Amino acid sequence: MLVLGIESSCDETAAAIADEHGHVVASVIASQLKLHAEYGGVVPELASRQHLQDLPVVAGQAMEQAQMSWDQLDGIAATHGPGLMGSLLVGLCWAKAAAFARGLPFKGVNHLEGHLKAVELNSPAAERPFIGLVASGGHTNLYWVGPGKLPQYRLMAQTRDDAVGEAFDKVAKLLGLPYPGGPSIEKAARQSTVGNQGIKFTPPRLKDGSMGFSYSGIKTAVRLVVEGAKKSGQTLDASAVAAAFQKTVIDDLVSRTLLAVRETNALAIALSGGVAANGPLRDALTQAAQREGLACLIPPREWCTDNAAMIAAVGAQRLAAGERDGWDLPAVPYLEL
Ligand code: KG4
Ligand code: ZN
Repeated sequence: MLVLGIESSCDETAAAIADEHGHVVASVIASQLKLHAEYGGVVPELASRQHLQDLPVVAGQAMEQAQMSWDQLDGIAATHGPGLMGSLLVGLCWAKAAAFARGLPFKGVNHLEGHLKAVELNSPAAERPFIGLVASGGHTNLYWVGPGKLPQYRLMAQTRDDAVGEAFDKVAKLLGLPYPGGPSIEKAARQSTVGNQGIKFTPPRLKDGSMGFSYSGIKTAVRLVVEGAKKSGQTLDASAVAAAFQKTVIDDLVSRTLLAVRETNALAIALSGGVAANGPLRDALTQAAQREGLACLIPPREWCTDNAAMIAAVGAQRLAAGERDGWDLPAVPYLEL
């Protein structure tokens, strides 16, 4: 079953064609990075307007790349949450209208399920149950992904405050590094000639000792280091701070993922979402999984950040299982998985 998937939940306009086994036939992404860079973050109204312009172009390019005509499609899917309301509405309404006009079945897809599915794109199906960490600009969610024809999801931990990608973005801003913060921090940390120069941040701990994540404390700690240097007239070594921040966050993500693995006897670990593009995080989790004797599934970088291949694949899997959504399916900004 070949399905056209549409993704527009944040600042990427994407279209892709994939089947229910995760085989990707075409994938096109138009990024709005440059549009939002001067504001240091995504401006929702600008994002919606740009989606409206780019979506028909991107969808046409995906059809061209696949060398397919509309009558060869078996269905259409689109992200219906979570995400920015205006951005979601553009992709969702466009996809519903296209499906209605072509007489094709339609399926709304949860963006978070898409991120977890990304580990199976053009790859063998993941062995379940596995522990999946979705680490992005909006989420730090740890899932148990269980067996069954369609996967079952149990949310084991989430962030109490800032998402991990959000922390990368805010810390980069504090250090005067360009937007988006994740790649800037990674680059600065790599360039640090002195490692973390003895700077140590306290690993995040929740007062109730629960599994959840918390990154607002470390963000404040970085702010205090920056302000301290300013007050004492010292030049701040931003790359050393970036290296220390990145190391603390990676250690925290890896150790909490391992806790979840041990609690559930999972067979594999999966990592996805924009922050999964981070090289040192990919390496650290891969090594941790190896030590546990588990498979570690991490998609190539293009499928870690937002894309439509993951949405098309989930849509195809759910449509193939007989699921359908009506034309009244709403966009849900805080949709949960
Ligand atoms: O999944 P995504 O593209 O969009 C959301 O659904 O949020 O994730 C974007 C987030 C941003 O916060 C960005 O700074 C972060 O992923 N990111 C990274 C890296 N590349 C992107 N964080 C750390 N290291 C990276 N290399
Ligand atoms: Zn995402």
